[in-house]
Amino acid sequence: MGNLLSLKNLTVEFSQNKEISLAVNKVNLEVRHKEIVGLVGESGSGKTITTRAITKILPPNARITSGEVIFEGMDLLKIKAEELRSMRGEKISYIFQEPVMYLNPILTVGSQISEAVSEHIRQDKEKVDPERRTVELLRQVAMPSAEEVFYDYPHQLSGGMNQRVMIAQALASNPNLLIADEPTTSLDIDTEAEILELLSDLQKEVGFSCIFITHNLGLVKKLCQRIYVMYRGSIVEAGDLERIFTNPQHEHTKALVKAYLRLAA
Ligand SMILES: Nc1ncnc2c1ncn2[C@@H]1O[C@H](COP(=O)(O)OP(=O)(O)O)[C@@H](O)[C@H]1O
Ligand SMILES: [Mg+2]
Repeated sequence: MGNLLSLKNLTVEFSQNKEISLAVNKVNLEVRHKEIVGLVGESGSGKTITTRAITKILPPNARITSGEVIFEGMDLLKIKAEELRSMRGEKISYIFQEPVMYLNPILTVGSQISEAVSEHIRQDKEKVDPERRTVELLRQVAMPSAEEVFYDYPHQLSGGMNQRVMIAQALASNPNLLIADEPTTSLDIDTEAEILELLSDLQKEVGFSCIFITHNLGLVKKLCQRIYVMYRGSIVEAGDLERIFTNPQHEHTKALVKAYLRLAA
């Protein structure tokens, strides 16, 4: 069937005070249809920049210097800005660590999700009622009292509920790829477990592919079938979950697994 996404030798540089630094170094990464791939690495290893390069939502001092981003057979680095814009949020959606930073404080969560639904309808020429679809999405992300939450503002909701809102908004367009960048890092442990379970259930139900980014190996164990380990801008190891945990090859992966086992013991 081929892959949904293939990053080939993707390289991203930053220029700062006349210095060039390599944030992402010849990264190769594949996402198959309907799988959740884990992208693991310590803070600063290049996870966020790698996945933001996919749709070119990068800081102004970043530059993609080489590589390919093949998504559904097209190189996204070569398509027109306009085409890429319609791809972003439509076929490729993101969720991030601090949902409340990405939600508009002066709009109800319902109107924000409806807006995403309307945008999708406009692109896809589907005949659905945005508000009805929004309530459906809120139910789909297991939001308690979906009809009432529709009229709430982000500050009235907990971190976990706001993350559910972000997930609903991300799914409004039926994306083929969901990029989840440390989506549970700002949440407490119980809420984190709930969001992981939700992502796992939604993936099975809706069938999107997902890149799940985390610095916590324990989380990929719960969610992913395959893992990429990133270290200082490079992918140092990739493989099936089981193999990575039982037989890590790279020194950095060994250290991550050791730290995880110590915590889990
Ligand atoms: N705006 C920026 N200017 C310069 N360097 C940056 C900028 N944003 C990120 N970086 C650098 O790029 C590297 C990768 O960052 P990032 O992808 O955010 O790491 P991660 O998501 O794994 O924590 C880091 O070394 C970071 O310092
Ligand atoms: Mg990051």
